[in-house]
Amino acid sequence: MWAILLILAVNLVSAWATDYYLLVDDPDVYSPCTDGPPGSITVNEAFNMDNMVFDQDEDGIHISGNATVKWSLPRTDRISARFSVMHHTRGTWEPTVISQVTRDFCAVFYHQDQYWYKYWFQNAANLEEIKKNCLATKDSVMIFNPFIMHLRLNNINGASFRGRYKAVFHIEAFDEHNKRRPTSLCFEFRGEVERVKD
Ligand SMILES: *[C@@H]1O[C@H](CO)[C@@H](O)[C@H](O)[C@H]1NC(C)=O
Repeated sequence: MWAILLILAVNLVSAWATDYYLLVDDPDVYSPCTDGPPGSITVNEAFNMDNMVFDQDEDGIHISGNATVKWSLPRTDRISARFSVMHHTRGTWEPTVISQVTRDFCAVFYHQDQYWYKYWFQNAANLEEIKKNCLATKDSVMIFNPFIMHLRLNNINGASFRGRYKAVFHIEAFDEHNKRRPTSLCFEFRGEVERVKD
């Protein structure tokens, strides 16, 4: 998902010919939110990730495997997904201009113009099943063909991307009366943006 934020960045800034790459902290890639909203659960509480593989090397993160849903909500719930990119400066996390809310995630995540699709669900081996079940149908499985999430980025205006960043993802559910469920999913990717030395 670092790829998401940098592609967005490319759209926002004029390009200078400088290459950057990203080092993600956690070997699992995703981490529990440091400031998660009350009632928020982690990826490992929402999904059984035992059969997912994340291997980071200089090409990026090699991802494959399957995840089984543990989260259980009526399929009629509306799921809203938000991500925002924060920059660590002077000891605190500050928001950046990059954020996005997907109001009805289950209705759109498989559209080709969605970042969710481009960087993640495009690699699903059983996309039709995931469209049917979405994210919170207990015991449904999401299977991923092996793919590489590339972390090297070309032509980014260096001034705006140096140092420590995180992308925070918050997934909330609303029942048929549009009342927010007490449980939500929160996770983040934290990492370091570095300039390629050459
Ligand atoms: C999930 O991954 C495990 C381990 O690789 C494999 O044994 C299992 O068959 C997979 N399940 C599905 C539904 O693909």
